[in-house]
Amino acid sequence: KKTSNQLLVIFGASGDLTARKLVPSLFNLYLARQLPENFVVLGASRSDMTDKEFRNKVVLESKYLKPRLEDLKENYIQGFSDKFFYEDLGGAYDTDYSRLRKRVEDLNNKYKTEGNIIYYLSTPPTLYETIAKNLADAGLNTQNNGWKRLIVEKPFGYSLETAKALNTGLQKYFTEPQIYRIDHYLGKETVQNLLVTRFANTIFEPLWNRNYIHHVEITNAESVGVEKRGGYYDKSGALRDMFQNHLLQIVSLIVMEPPIGDQPEEIRNEKVKALKSLRIMTDAQELHDNTIRAQYMASTINGEKVKGYREEDGVDSDSTTETYAAIKFFVDNWRWKDVPFYVRTAKRMPTKVTEVVIHFKSPHHHIFQDSGINNKDNKLVIRIQPDEGILMKFGVKVPGQGFKVERANLDFYYSSLAQTHVMEAYERLLLDCMQGDATLYARADEVEAAWEFVDPILEYWKNGKDVRMYGYAAGVWGPENADELIDGIGYWRNPGSN
Ligand code: BG6
Repeated sequence: KKTSNQLLVIFGASGDLTARKLVPSLFNLYLARQLPENFVVLGASRSDMTDKEFRNKVVLESKYLKPRLEDLKENYIQGFSDKFFYEDLGGAYDTDYSRLRKRVEDLNNKYKTEGNIIYYLSTPPTLYETIAKNLADAGLNTQNNGWKRLIVEKPFGYSLETAKALNTGLQKYFTEPQIYRIDHYLGKETVQNLLVTRFANTIFEPLWNRNYIHHVEITNAESVGVEKRGGYYDKSGALRDMFQNHLLQIVSLIVMEPPIGDQPEEIRNEKVKALKSLRIMTDAQELHDNTIRAQYMASTINGEKVKGYREEDGVDSDSTTETYAAIKFFVDNWRWKDVPFYVRTAKRMPTKVTEVVIHFKSPHHHIFQDSGINNKDNKLVIRIQPDEGILMKFGVKVPGQGFKVERANLDFYYSSLAQTHVMEAYERLLLDCMQGDATLYARADEVEAAWEFVDPILEYWKNGKDVRMYGYAAGVWGPENADELIDGIGYWRNPGSN
């Protein structure tokens, strides 16, 4: 695909995301010669910085790039760093953007970026609408002279109501096709591969329904705690931070019906339909029985003492924000009726891993009496990260007399594919937006459908009667009570185990 000449304006350019993710992604695109011929970046924020200081900060002196720059020729690095410019907004985002406009026009004329502009909002979310409005007031949203696109970072809203207000607010100044809501999980190869696994093979899709699937389990675990983001996290929690966006995106790709083609709206229409079919829990008993929240507590991991959540910087000492969330739910449609979905996400788990497990039903008639087949049902494990790949578990005969069944593995690792450059999530998503492809960005109705499901859980956790907050020692697989959520078998499949 061709990428047109363009200017990228980053709001919040002095923040961590710019240096940690955006610039390294642009650098990868630069190395892979995927940036358009005429391309410049204008950083904007409240800090006072010169172009030179900005270049030093995000490129030349950046700890995220420095080790990689060492082997490269100086003029090559210079070629990259020369693309960066900085505009000080004069201490506030809520200001007149006519000076910004002047700068944008100058860069556009000088570097021939043809009036095409991406505005990347990497500021606190409370500023999104203000920035959109100020851009519009300065005439910077008009598409008469080149396209304009707006990328919005997460969190997208704090609740259904705030997400709706944000959508309406942004849509006053930019049209829906101009708005790109980023969810970096959609930029992950293995998340995209869920579509290919399902719809480019004949061997999975016929079984992908209530007739053959017993339950679906999704685990998202991080070994880190809240790190330096205690202040943000304490107002958010696992459900808002991971579940509403990243995990429900994964759910929608597992649940959705086949799209008619691979065009953005064809895929996004099916995802919205999938999210709208999640059974919303409203009854207190139902919410009590199907949701579990917990916080990590101080512990020692590999001989090292780690803090409990409530002792972390920026976290209230009597905080009721969850660092662990496990939700059981159903999908009310023809394909999934009565198939339970179990989804959990947490910080301070034994390891960092994200995986989806499709548990197939037992054969309906057991021929091999001694097989202990219950524990040997077929499973399809889709490893999103790390060790990206797909594992299929199936029964084989144990050599010898009789018919003893053992489980064997068919295991595919992405790393075994011929050496190709696997794009990082942000790299892929940025390039898609540069090319005007919104497939991997969340549409307004998608985000709202996800909040619609999450809102009652948040409300119950906040105001419900006697809602338990469990504790778990940092470094273990969450509270034991979480096993009670899973009917029948009564335990989660901890990644790496059987
Ligand atoms: C972010 C969350 O969206 O995703 C973080 O705000 C979390 O709390 C991160 O650590 C996880 O992303 P990944 O790609 O490392 O799984």
